[in-house]
Amino acid sequence: MTLKQQILQVLENNRGLAMSGQQLADTLNVTRASVWKSIKALQDEGYKIVATTNRGYVLEETNDILSEQSLRACLGEEYRDVDIFTFKTSPSTNAEAMTRLMNGGLTHGTLIVADEQTKGRGRMGKSFFSPKSGIYMSVCLCKSIERMQDVMVITPAAAVAVRSAIAKLTGIDAKIKWVNDIYIDKKKVCGILTQADIDFESGKAGTFIVGIGINFVEQDFPDEIKQRACALFQGQPTITRSQLIGEIYRNLIKLTDDLTDRRFMLSYKQHSLVMNREISYTYNGEDKSGKVIDIDGDGGLVVQENGGGIRNLTCGEISIRSSANEWI
Ligand code: BTN
Repeated sequence: MTLKQQILQVLENNRGLAMSGQQLADTLNVTRASVWKSIKALQDEGYKIVATTNRGYVLEETNDILSEQSLRACLGEEYRDVDIFTFKTSPSTNAEAMTRLMNGGLTHGTLIVADEQTKGRGRMGKSFFSPKSGIYMSVCLCKSIERMQDVMVITPAAAVAVRSAIAKLTGIDAKIKWVNDIYIDKKKVCGILTQADIDFESGKAGTFIVGIGINFVEQDFPDEIKQRACALFQGQPTITRSQLIGEIYRNLIKLTDDLTDRRFMLSYKQHSLVMNREISYTYNGEDKSGKVIDIDGDGGLVVQENGGGIRNLTCGEISIRSSANEWI
């Protein structure tokens, strides 16, 4: 770590608190002049570090530059050894993770974060709108999972991880739209794309890359998604992106530690946007509709099909009829 990074780490660990130049110099065993030089360089990069006479340097609470140091401070001691990679811009954090996986350098818990993506990927081959100042994160889970049902609940676990983190840090009661979107009211605020590298020979799945994209602040959404997308914050955010990423990360690692423990599915169901709602979907090329009567322990939708019996849906896209009779 360079001195600048070390200073940033100390300031991130003490956000909002004043650290005197002497304190920093003593902690890092360097001169006050070199501390000052690093602080100046950080300020030039845009870090909101206020120098107060007598008290020292304060990294402002509202500073929202994503860095390895800000993420480490938010992940806490328990995850001090995980690999973290941050990018100002990346084609796609999931693609970045895949490349690292192919090159043999991916460890369990690796966190990859970008401020912006130029080729953000969504589900079903769609693109994911990823302008600056959003949250684009990929968490790599390297674990041996034998049962396909357990693989299938990684994405629902991620949805619960995101929803709970948003609720805890902002008080917003977001909902989960089956299977992997997070909605605030009738608009999507977050999408999740899980990609797997499965070792078919051993029959055990190997690495999972859980990609999470959140519209953090209000954006000029493209016309095609304007009506359906929203941001977590309309005005000044009350939290930083690193805080939210840290909370999501900790939730996700814990929930996916033992995927046979399905207690999180209760939360999934409790905060589902689709439970007891009229939905429409395509099944074997045919348009169908029905009412969701349950979500099973493996994340499947149990639907009472109109004019038919009970249908179990395990994947696909659905539309939900809202109380105002619109389709979401
Ligand atoms: C969807 O809504 O269809 C899923 C969107 C997933 C977007 C995230 S952003 C981080 C990661 N990198 C990507 O390219 N995609 C995922």
